[in-house]
Amino acid sequence: MAEAFARRIDCDKDLLRAGALLHDIGRSITHSIEHALIGYGIVRDLGLPEEIAEIVRRHTGAGLDVEDAIGFGLPEADYIPMTIEQKIVAHADNMVSDNRLVTHDYSVDRLRNKGSDRGADRMEALHKELSDLYGEDLDVLVEELGEYPQMSGACAPFTVPEEFRL
Ligand SMILES: [Fe+2]
Repeated sequence: MAEAFARRIDCDKDLLRAGALLHDIGRSITHSIEHALIGYGIVRDLGLPEEIAEIVRRHTGAGLDVEDAIGFGLPEADYIPMTIEQKIVAHADNMVSDNRLVTHDYSVDRLRNKGSDRGADRMEALHKELSDLYGEDLDVLVEELGEYPQMSGACAPFTVPEEFRL
C-alpha cells in the first residue's frame, strides 16, 4: 500500500520500502501499542539508519502526541509522523487490516469506537493531506488494487530456505 501511495507522492522510495517492511518488527516482542517504540529500539540495535527507526517509532495510527503517549504509559515524547516517508507508512498501515486493504474510515471508526476522537481526527487530517498530495482520494486504491492484492517484486511471497525451516 505504501508503494501504491508513492506512485504519485514524491518520496525516498528505498527508505519508504525499508520502513514499510520493518514498521511492525516490534510485534516480535509485543502486540501492545509499545511495539512501535520497541521496534524503534530493534532497528537501532541492528545498526540501521535512524531515519528507518523513526518511521517505526511514529507509525501507530496517525501518530501519538505527548498527551496520547502519557495516556498509553509510553515515555513522554512526540510520536507524530513528520517526514513524508513517516506519514506514508503510518497511513498506508491505517488502510491495511491484516492482509486486507480497507478504506481509511475503517481505522477512523475503530478509533472513534475506542473513544479516541483526537486520534481519529488526526487520522482524517492525515488522509486528507496525503490524498491532496496523491491528487485523488487514497480510498480509490482499495478498489484499484482490490481488497486482497497480489504482491509482486521484492515483496512477493518467497520460499523459506531449507535451513531455516522448523
Ligand atoms: Fe504497528
